[in-house]
Amino acid sequence: MTKQAAWIDEAWERSLKKTMQNAARIGSGFPHASQGGTYDLASPGWWTAGFWPGMLWVLHSGSGHDELKKLAEECEAKLDSVLDGYVTLDHDLGFMWTLTSVMNYKLTGNEMSRIRALKAANYLAARFNLKGRYIRAWNPWQEGERNEGIAIIDCCMNMPLLFWASRVSGDPRYAHIAEAHLDTVVKHFLREDGSVYHIVHFDPHTGERLGGLGGQGYAAESAWSRGAAWAIYGLALGYHHTGKQEYLAAAQRAANFFLSRLPEDHVPAWDFRVPEEFSNLRDSSAGSCAACGLLLLSAQLDGADAAVYETGAARILESLYKNYGAWEEKEEGLLLHGTSNYPQGTNIDVPLIYGDYYFVEGLARLKGLDTLCWE
Ligand code: GLY
Repeated sequence: MTKQAAWIDEAWERSLKKTMQNAARIGSGFPHASQGGTYDLASPGWWTAGFWPGMLWVLHSGSGHDELKKLAEECEAKLDSVLDGYVTLDHDLGFMWTLTSVMNYKLTGNEMSRIRALKAANYLAARFNLKGRYIRAWNPWQEGERNEGIAIIDCCMNMPLLFWASRVSGDPRYAHIAEAHLDTVVKHFLREDGSVYHIVHFDPHTGERLGGLGGQGYAAESAWSRGAAWAIYGLALGYHHTGKQEYLAAAQRAANFFLSRLPEDHVPAWDFRVPEEFSNLRDSSAGSCAACGLLLLSAQLDGADAAVYETGAARILESLYKNYGAWEEKEEGLLLHGTSNYPQGTNIDVPLIYGDYYFVEGLARLKGLDTLCWE
């Protein structure tokens, strides 16, 4: 898809310029949330470690700037100690190695990257619970915590690593696991109205569904907007990789819910079902991630549906650029007003690296550039 509009090229050029400036300080670090204008640098083991190198790859492949590629490769090499260290690995292996090693392999054919990503896929596949047919999300956050039965909506975005592994290895097991997990998402996470649970709790021994939890959303029955974005994009990618109509229909249901709940400026509140006093607090990252999913959906459909999703995505990205972009400020983040985890009180109303990443990916999609990452 190539969409012509002056703001798209302008936004791309400004994102590129700002990222080149940021690269001089951040180098091959792992930015997460920006506080007071400066990105904090997280440990390479944190789930967000892929987004900065992923953004460097997208901007490199759209601009040819080799210094961005070099930094992305350095970040990827730093993740080796995380992969070899094993104990901190959870389901976010998908986010981390899709945007680094898979990206590198697809763009350059690097054999070392292929092996790294296959190792990551094996660890991810090993988290599959056969009885509940879900991929276990986290390891215990503290001593004694049991979370073998926890699966979360975010994991939809980890599935492309498994689909990729089946494609390059010729072994269908990875794709079988990804498909089983996505089937569980459609059955147990998606509500009738198209909203989703962040967390679903299963009995890890029997596979029985025990209930839905609020997680990073306001409440168990609320509708965390970034969770909705993970569902839209993850299910549209599931359809891309399998051709299963159920995933397309589920992605459309989630997308219709999301679009119908957007406020006037097209950028979502952090949760679509919060009491009024909280609803002005936005999550720009949910907007940029959902926009990428909507653009993929639009490319998978024709006629009126395709137009609705394309227009919806372009409106979100344009508003993010014009109303949320930190273009004139002393601020490393590209997009203001992201909300990471409201219930825990962490990184509220700040730029977030994944918000920036999906904004750049969305622009690349609108420009018709090759966005290989998840497909
Ligand atoms: N995957 C964690 C989050 O969306 O905050």
